[in-house]
Amino acid sequence: MISLTRCYRFPAAHVLAIPTASDAENRQLYGKCANPAGHGHDYGVEVTVAGPQDERTGRVIDPARLDAIFEERVGRRLAHRMLNELPLFADRDLVPTAENIARVVFEELAGPVAGSGAARLRRVRVLETRRNSFVYGEME
Ligand code: NI
Repeated sequence: MISLTRCYRFPAAHVLAIPTASDAENRQLYGKCANPAGHGHDYGVEVTVAGPQDERTGRVIDPARLDAIFEERVGRRLAHRMLNELPLFADRDLVPTAENIARVVFEELAGPVAGSGAARLRRVRVLETRRNSFVYGEME
């Protein structure tokens, strides 16, 4: 068993607010992050997959394949977007917190990774600011 962690970036904007809550309550819950004008982050995403090494290639997964999966399922859908407006969040009433971004990214990548060979997605870490990072999946 061996793991690979690969790093990606995408810029996106969000507002931390529960659509059914009042502005006052959202300000109380999320502080300045609830500002309706929104704000942006240059999100870092660390994707960890693990599995057996392929005997022939010596790899756990082809990193180009992982890159293609990330771009198709996450990069091109989330980058430069207002996350609150995307069906991935809006249709499920998910406030686009970094916790929920990590969860959505995990759920989007898990199937295609599993369909690509023996490797399985283990964790997704979202780096939102210099002080905050969030992990969904195996915590180790
Ligand atoms: Ni934010």
